[in-house]
Amino acid sequence: MTETNRIPVTVLGLGMMGTALAGAFLNNGNRTIVWNRSADKTDALIAEGAVAAGEIRDAVEASPVIVICVSTYEVMNDLLASVADELRGRVVVNLTSGTPEEARDTALWAQENGVEYLDGAIMAVPQMIGLPEALIFYAGNQQVFTEQEELLKPLGGKSVYLGTDAGVPMIYDLGLLSILWSCIAGYVHAQALVGTVGVSAEEFLPFVNTWIEQVIAPAIPKSAKEIDSGRFETDVSSLDVNKAAISHLVKTSKQLNVDNDMSVAIQEMIEKRVAQGHGNHSLASLIEAFKKQESH
Ligand SMILES: NC(=O)c1ccc[n+]([C@@H]2O[C@H](COP(=O)([O-])OP(=O)(O)OC[C@H]3O[C@@H](n4cnc5c(N)ncnc54)[C@H](OP(=O)(O)O)[C@@H]3O)[C@@H](O)[C@H]2O)c1
Repeated sequence: MTETNRIPVTVLGLGMMGTALAGAFLNNGNRTIVWNRSADKTDALIAEGAVAAGEIRDAVEASPVIVICVSTYEVMNDLLASVADELRGRVVVNLTSGTPEEARDTALWAQENGVEYLDGAIMAVPQMIGLPEALIFYAGNQQVFTEQEELLKPLGGKSVYLGTDAGVPMIYDLGLLSILWSCIAGYVHAQALVGTVGVSAEEFLPFVNTWIEQVIAPAIPKSAKEIDSGRFETDVSSLDVNKAAISHLVKTSKQLNVDNDMSVAIQEMIEKRVAQGHGNHSLASLIEAFKKQESH
C-alpha cells in the first residue's frame, strides 16, 4: 500500500458519475466516505467497502479531500455553502459540469472561504472512470494540484493540469463537446438523407468510416496549422467551392423533407465570408466568422 492509498477521500454526489468515481477510489484502496441526497444510492458502494455518512457534514469532516460531482453548479454551490465552516482548510475537487463562469465563481467563493479548490472536467463516461485512457482536465492552484495528483490518478490515467484559471477545464470540455455534437448531428443528417433512398445505417457505415478516416481526420491537424498561422490560402477546397456545394445540400434536404437548419447555419457563415472577399480561403478560415459571434 502506498502513501496515497492511505489517504481517506470523500465523494459527495452518487449519481452515475459520482458512483463511478467512488468505485475507482475504492479499487485503489482508499478509505472512501460517501454521501448522497438519496441515501439508497450508497448501498452498492457500502457493499464494496465504502463508508456512508448520514449527514453531509460528517462526510466532509472525514477527509482532507472532498470530490463533488452533482447535477449542476447551482446544486454544488448550495451543498458547499451548507458546510462552509467544515470545508475550511480542506481541498474540494469539483467534477460537476457547467460553464467557465460558474467554475470561476465557485473558485472565488472557495478562496473567500479558506477552501482549496480544483475544478475539473471529465471527458469520459462513467464506465471509463478508472481506466488509463480516461481523460480529466483540472485547473486551480498548481501546488494543490501537485499535492493531489497522485490521489486523483485512479480516476483517470490521462489527468491533465491546465493552469490556475478554474474556468479553463470547462472551456476545453465545451470545445470537445461542440465537436461531438456537430459530428454526430452531421452524421445523423447524412443518414436521414441516404435513408430517403432506402439505405440503412449499416449499409452506409463503411463509407462514413472511410470518409472520417481519410478526409475528416487528416483535415483537423491541417486546419489547426492554418488557424495558428492565420494563413488560409488553399489548393484543396475553397469557400467558393464549398458555397456551391452546401447550397446543393440545403436545397436537397428541403426537397426531401429532411431538416436542414444545421446546414443553413453553416451556409450562412460560408456566404458571409465569401461576401467579405475570402472565397479563396479554406473552411478553417470560418474561425473568423465564429470569432465575430462573440460581439453579438
Ligand atoms: N454521466 C456522464 O457520462 C458524465 C460525463 C462527464 C461529466 N458528467 C457530469 O457529472 C455530473 C453528474 O452527472 P451524473 O451522470 O452522475 O448525473 P446523475 O446520475 O443525474 O446524478 C446527479 C447527482 O446530483 C445529485 N443532485 C441533484 N440535485 C440535487 C440537489 N438538489 N441536492 C443534492 N444532490 C442533488 C443527485 O442526487 P440524488 O441521487 O439524490 O438525485 C445525484 O447524486 C454532471 O454535471 C454531468 O454533466 C457526467
